[in-house]
Amino acid sequence: MQPIGVFDSGVGGLSVLKALRQALPQEKFVYVSDAGHAPYGERDVAHVLARSLAVGRHLVQSHQVKALVVACNTATAAAIAALRATYPTLPIVGVEPALKPAAARSRTGAVGVLATRSTLASDKFQALLQAQNPQVRFVLQACNGLAAAIECADTQQIHALCARYTAALGPVGSLPGAIDTVVLGCTHYTFATEVLQDLLGPNVELIDAGDPVAQRTVNLLAHATAVLPAHTDAAWVGLWTTGETQTLEGAAQRWLVGTGLARHVEVA
Ligand code: DGL
Repeated sequence: MQPIGVFDSGVGGLSVLKALRQALPQEKFVYVSDAGHAPYGERDVAHVLARSLAVGRHLVQSHQVKALVVACNTATAAAIAALRATYPTLPIVGVEPALKPAAARSRTGAVGVLATRSTLASDKFQALLQAQNPQVRFVLQACNGLAAAIECADTQQIHALCARYTAALGPVGSLPGAIDTVVLGCTHYTFATEVLQDLLGPNVELIDAGDPVAQRTVNLLAHATAVLPAHTDAAWVGLWTTGETQTLEGAAQRWLVGTGLARHVEVA
């Protein structure tokens, strides 16, 4: 049975994998963390593009994946078009900051966006921003270092950076003009949800893209008639990393239940 391939620069994509497993409990998944070549969000586009193509090729050639989920906003912005051009018949799903759902949820008409520097600077993100309701005010904040702090579970650094970047958004809450909705535009940030929510207060809603990505994958597989019947017992998750196995294993133990050991792989 062919697995679904999922990759990210590190552990962040586990937040998407979690939603995928809930939506498709019968499927087999292969997850690649490209931690040996991360962070993506503070590297140049050529690096992210080359790495995404290398990891995509690895998933297609070594694991014969039947679908590919790019569980990284930065990699989606830099490489989804090239991946689709390389594998025109493979269902490929990307993740991008959930601006539209956030704008629809906001009552104050002010939305904060936390993402990597690379995502915010990308043409793809700028086009997405231009397509939004012009009456909604978006405040963009690049969060340098935050994905790396989450990657190594450095609680103190996560707290310090979240405090700095949420303060930089300006007034938050339900008063007119304040930001009442914040988009988590990097899959790593989902794992800082509690810290961010504490800092932003109860009147600010956080929005990530895990569930919509999972839903899109379900729809694409259904369209390709590749979805498995619900009663199969082949469900399984394989974890691979180009970095430290303990980092991925630790994160999987914290955030996904029962996924087993991570293995090291060189992806060139
Ligand atoms: N998880 C990635 C994203 O969604 C970025 C993390 C990194 O900078 O490597 O953008």
